[in-house]
This record gives sequence, C-alpha cells and structure tokens, in this order.
Amino acid sequence: PPLSQITTIEDLRQIARRKLPKMFYEYADTGSWTQTTYHANAADFAPIQFRQRVLVDMENRSLKTQMLGQEVKMPLAIAPTGLTGMFHADGEILAARACEKFGIPYTLSTMSICSIEDVAENTTAPFWFQLYVMRDREFMADLIRRAKAAQCSALVLTADLQIVGQRHRDIKNGLTVPPRPTLANLINLATKIEWGLKMLNTRRRTFRNIAGHAKDVTNLSELMPWVAKQFDPKLSWDDIAHIKDLWGGKLIIKGILDPEDAEKAVQHGADAIIVSNHGGRQLDGAPSSIRALPAIIQAVGSQTEVWLDGGIRTGQDILKAWALGARGTFIGRPYLYGLAAYGEAGVTRALEILYNEMDLSMAFTGHRDIQNVTREILVKGSYPEA
Ligand code: FNR
Repeated sequence: PPLSQITTIEDLRQIARRKLPKMFYEYADTGSWTQTTYHANAADFAPIQFRQRVLVDMENRSLKTQMLGQEVKMPLAIAPTGLTGMFHADGEILAARACEKFGIPYTLSTMSICSIEDVAENTTAPFWFQLYVMRDREFMADLIRRAKAAQCSALVLTADLQIVGQRHRDIKNGLTVPPRPTLANLINLATKIEWGLKMLNTRRRTFRNIAGHAKDVTNLSELMPWVAKQFDPKLSWDDIAHIKDLWGGKLIIKGILDPEDAEKAVQHGADAIIVSNHGGRQLDGAPSSIRALPAIIQAVGSQTEVWLDGGIRTGQDILKAWALGARGTFIGRPYLYGLAAYGEAGVTRALEILYNEMDLSMAFTGHRDIQNVTREILVKGSYPEA
C-alpha cells in the first residue's frame, strides 16, 4: 500500500512481517520466556485515561522540548537496536537520517551492522552511541574512542544486558548474521526477494562495529552464544567512574527499573536514566516500564532527567509517559517496523504518526504547549502511582 494509507504503527508491523526474513522479524517481535513483561509494556498504557477538556484555544501547538540540553521536536528518540541493518540494507544510516530530518536523537547500538564511522560519514547531526561492555576492556575503550572521534553527543550505557535473557524464537530460528543457507532459510528467503536484492546491493551485511575485535564476527555462527561469551557478566557500579572518565561527555544509563538503582545511577553521575526493561527481552516478570516510572520519578525526578522506553505504540503513550514525569521517551520496535516496511520513508512515517497522535491528544486535553502538561491531564485513579 502507498504510504498515505499507513496510519498506525500496527500497519507498519504488518508490512514488515511480510517483507522481512522470518528470523529477523521474530528477533524484533518477541520478548523473553512467557513474554509477560513484553506484552505488559504496551498493555499497561491502555487503562490510563485522559481528561477531555473543551472550548479552549487549540491553535499553534508545540511539542518541542530538550533532552540533555538538545532541542527536540517532541520528547522522543530512537532506541538502540542490534542488527538494524538486517531490517533494511543500510538500516542504521537510513534511520539516523530520518531522525536528523525529523529533529530527534538517534542512538546507534554496539551490535550494529553499519559502523559508527558509516553513520557519521552519512549524516550531519550528532547521534548517540550505545555501549555494551565486553570482557575485553581494550575493545570497550576503542569503541568509546571511536564514538568520540565520530562526535557522538552522548554515551548510552546499557545496564541490563550483562547476560542475555532467553528468547525462544531466536533459538528455534537459529538466528545468525548473515542467515545460514539452510533449506528452511532458503525457502523463506525465496519469498523475500525485495529484501534480498537490497541486501546484495550493500557492502554492509555484517557487524561492522565489532568486526576486527573477534575472529568470528564477520560471520557470527550463533548470535546469542557469541554475546554470552563476549559480554562482561562482572560489569558493576564500580566500573561507571572509569567509563565516565574514558568518555568524558554526557552519560545516560539505560535499563533502570528500580528506584534504588535509580538513586545509584544518580550517585554515580548519570546525566539521564532510561527506565527500561529492554523491551521485555531480559527479565520476564519484571514490571512494565510505565508501571515502574512513578516510583523512579519520586526517587530521582528532581535530580536527573528520567526517560522511558518499552511499549510505546502511539503518540498517546508518549503523552501519558510525559504526564507521569518522563522528560523523554524512546521507541525500538515501532521504528524497526517502519524501516523494514519502507526504508527511511517508513521510519519518517512512524515518527509522523506518533507526532500527530501526540499533538492531537494534547490539544483534546486542553493544552497547546507540552511544557504546561502535567499529570493533571490524567483521570485520577487511572494511572500507576509510586
Ligand atoms: C533492542 N534493545 C536494545 N537495547 C540496547 O541497549 N542495545 C541493543 O543492541 C538492543 N537491541 C535490540 C534489538 C531489538 C530487535 C529490540 C526490539 C530491542 C532494546 C531497545 O533499546 C529498547 O529498550 C526497546 O526496544 C524498547 O521497547 P519497544 O519500543 O521495542 O517496545
């Protein structure tokens, strides 16, 4: 269908499912174990209700704000996602470009197909770099050095993936990059010609960020066992000072779900934190992000910038998170669906959909400027409390 017919993130998801090789679609569209937390992330937004207000001037509205001092068109950024270049050829570059044109930050994952340098060379706005800490600390120092050289404007340290949660689909699909030529994969790929042709047309088909650091990276046999071998399970709060020193810039800690950890993050000098359960991909049975938010805002909201990701599928979800105190939000899967469906235009479409939904909803609650929006716009008793 033409882009003008695409009116929801769900539309993009359906098209992404048709276009993507099964193993990559399912890599995104899954959570760990029973997927309870994965589903709760989105579902827990639904019961939160808005107060409808009428007969107030709704002309000239603005969702503009700042995230870490950076002007943003709305309180939204793109979350780091691994393997993005497998969702569409050169996916990281396309997504970063869409963000740059739209006016929100893009975060590049350590586990990217395109490298830090690939993205820097093909964009002009500074982007953020997400760091996974590996056992080989020289490797980590090198990633930080490269992010600095590329003038990344913040480092996002992911704190909730020292070890990997189990996602059944990835094991069953035998997820590899690039896919192995097994009979099942070949049969599936034969139905994904458009994806395959684009992929053949790029030189970026494997993990360029981490290539050269581990011998088996050019053709990762099995992704999850590799990650389990390389990522550092010993990473602790004691490492933060050293990482901060090496980096020397703004540090964001991602994957905070508990108020006590939020306080630790502040004590260790985080410039912002992201309330997150990794999109329900790590500890299944943990609370949804929106449930966890109010207690964290109460604990540290006045001391650091508190952001949130997980389950945002509409602009209304962003407005609800903002009303409950999140000064910024991130999307993972929604932009990946757009990217897989239509490349850069699909990411832009996802952002436009979220913008329009948030903008209209804010107006219906009687506001023109997001800066004036507080939890007053929500019906008492309908939202989670600390
Ligand atoms: C992720 N996420 C993630 N986080 C991170 O810090 N580094 C990474 O490499 C990845 N990789 C990744 C891949 C895929 C396919 C998904 C879906 C997620 C987690 C991501 O940054 C974010 O926390 C969630 O995606 C937010 O939830 P939603 O928006 O997907 O519901």
